[in-house]
Amino acid sequence: GSAEKGEFRHFMLKEIYEQPRVMQAVLEGRIASGHLLEQAFGSDAGAVFDRVKQVQIVACGTSYHAGLVAKYWIEELVGIPCMVEVASEFRYRPVVLPEDTLLLTLSQSGETADTLAALREVKARVLATLAICNVPGSSLVRESDLSLMTNAGPEIGVASTKAFTSQLVALMLTTIALGRRHGLSADKETALVAALEQLPELFQQLLALDGPIEAMSAHFAEKRHALFLGRNVLYPVAMEGALKLKEISYIHAEAYPAGELKHGPLALVDKEMPVIAVAPRNGMLDKLKANLQEVRARGGELFVFAGCEESIQSQEGVHVIHLPALPPVLDPIAFTLPLQLLSYHVAVLKGTDVDQPRNLAKSVTVE
Ligand code: G6P
Repeated sequence: GSAEKGEFRHFMLKEIYEQPRVMQAVLEGRIASGHLLEQAFGSDAGAVFDRVKQVQIVACGTSYHAGLVAKYWIEELVGIPCMVEVASEFRYRPVVLPEDTLLLTLSQSGETADTLAALREVKARVLATLAICNVPGSSLVRESDLSLMTNAGPEIGVASTKAFTSQLVALMLTTIALGRRHGLSADKETALVAALEQLPELFQQLLALDGPIEAMSAHFAEKRHALFLGRNVLYPVAMEGALKLKEISYIHAEAYPAGELKHGPLALVDKEMPVIAVAPRNGMLDKLKANLQEVRARGGELFVFAGCEESIQSQEGVHVIHLPALPPVLDPIAFTLPLQLLSYHVAVLKGTDVDQPRNLAKSVTVE
């Protein structure tokens, strides 16, 4: 009912605004004195993590995008292979699971039929199963060996917001647990934990971008298509941004890794095709800038979410929103919030049913 929405017009907006608190909740009891408390995953967690040689992630929808971010983290910070697949594909093919694979399922609800079926299908063939989930006592949690709750609280809006960012934090905690066994130093762990501890305050600062993002949303109200670009760990964030926009505003949106632009989507770019870029501060920024030039040269209007003041400035046809300064490891978590706000405001302008988009369900419990 509207009472529970309080001052907010929609549950989605309320849930976006809950994120500073959610960032606190997902860290609570999981870290102390700059270190991860890995018992949070379950009493057997240590013994399992000691043996893991690779990770197989399975999920659907927004949760799948969180899994894609984790692949970049695990392969970079742990240095073991990480595969990610949508559950509806994974469950129906003869997958190869090397010895000592950790099966990691991600789900807000813990009741998604395909994700549950994937778990049941391979459970007997993996070292252990870990569920990262928002609903304690859900089927996925009950049927997994280990679990880590995301503590985001009930999510009502069909378009997932706080569940996604809290999954990312849980996945970073998982990365640290695995990294300990593979040369992630205590110093590096302390630095990662210190970065995570900045999240509640950082999300508060990110919410201050709401006004400028609402103003930006006017450019999308009449558009029928949008292209999202990102590189590296921000590529899955671009995918999640595109999913949000299509789910609630019904604008056709897709995401590309920026380096693939010239292999297809550039053919679609003209003044009717806005391009949204999430721009990192790392070595890939210059490459991304070159991609953005290619878009401008074809009349495409650019909307850039940028990591630092100096890197890129607004100009004719280029609208830049700068994020507050943040540790680079938090990029995928932080860049998500502005994209959530953008899709929200575009949907409000278009007058769609933000919390209950047509044809979609919060939880897909039947195939
Ligand atoms: C549905 C929801 C999405 C969600 C997906 C996976 O499609 O509309 O928001 O990401 O299911 O749900 P899960 O509960 O498994 O994360």
